[in-house]
Amino acid sequence: QLQSRIDEESHGDNLIATLPTREGLSTPLTLFKNCWLRPQVLKNCLPVQDKFMPRSEDIILATHPKCGTTWLKALAFAITNRVHYALADHPLLEKNPHKVVTIIEAQFLSERGGDLDYIESLPSPRLLATHLPLSLLPSGVCKAGCRIVYLCREPKDAFTSMWHFENKVRKGDPISLDEAFNMFCEGCSSFGPFWDHYLQYWKENLARPQEVLFLKYEEIMLDPLKAVRKIAKFLDFPFTEEEESRGDDKELVRLCSFEVLSNLDANKTGGIERPGNMFIEHSSLFRKGEVGDWVNHMSKEMGEKLDILVEEKFKGSGLQF
Ligand code: A3P
Repeated sequence: QLQSRIDEESHGDNLIATLPTREGLSTPLTLFKNCWLRPQVLKNCLPVQDKFMPRSEDIILATHPKCGTTWLKALAFAITNRVHYALADHPLLEKNPHKVVTIIEAQFLSERGGDLDYIESLPSPRLLATHLPLSLLPSGVCKAGCRIVYLCREPKDAFTSMWHFENKVRKGDPISLDEAFNMFCEGCSSFGPFWDHYLQYWKENLARPQEVLFLKYEEIMLDPLKAVRKIAKFLDFPFTEEEESRGDDKELVRLCSFEVLSNLDANKTGGIERPGNMFIEHSSLFRKGEVGDWVNHMSKEMGEKLDILVEEKFKGSGLQF
């Protein structure tokens, strides 16, 4: 296993050396199959295609960064595990949502040995997460009929959230809004271009709506209870009439709300180690949690420029913001 890990590491290093690399918002980014990835993330995701064995019962939470991943993980975990935990004594009161859902590509972190024992040992249905575009997941994910819940966000807000976040994890001087904006519009952001990411899952949702649910952050914000019932039904964990009349679904929405989660000690302290010497403070995952915050940071002209780009990129797809 050690030898295969060393081989994988050096295969990754050799490959990265041949690929275009440029400065990203907080770290360098390498272009791999039309997707900009941090080099360390790329190394970790290379074995995913060969080694990750999708099961038909798998539930995959796929998100573009800064579109509400933390929220979706909390909601999906609470929905699918509600027979195991009382809401008053729930793991989400003690643990950050990222600690209760397994990230597919993180199973290949070299520190963990680069093997699949953990992910393979999880009982079905496995609740898994990824930021990878569909094109970088093994084709078996679609063939096996895994259930995918995809979450994206209005691009101006996604960018605003990303700019704040990347400056928190960035070492050295902050990156200016202008510089970050230009990179985002060129498609050069982590897991970007964002339009390819959104469109790949959008098209899959159109082709296989029973297996791919496409959600927007704004839609959950507008009516969280409706969204939670929709996710639960899609995942085959529908709320019963009894649960609804008891208000279990409303309680679950409340448990996963920005207000509750962001005020828990588990989310105000500590953080997550990410490959490449990156440390993400839990608190940096809860900033404002609002729709339309871009107006407080971006100029009107920037907003218009991004709107035009979005219209151009999504033209004819049916996807709109
Ligand atoms: P803002 O930076 O606009 O506040 P991700 O989890 O994909 O990194 O996305 C982070 C964004 O989701 C941040 O947006 C964060 O505040 C928001 N967020 C985190 N938890 C949330 C929750 N429970 N409800 C609503 N928004 C949440």
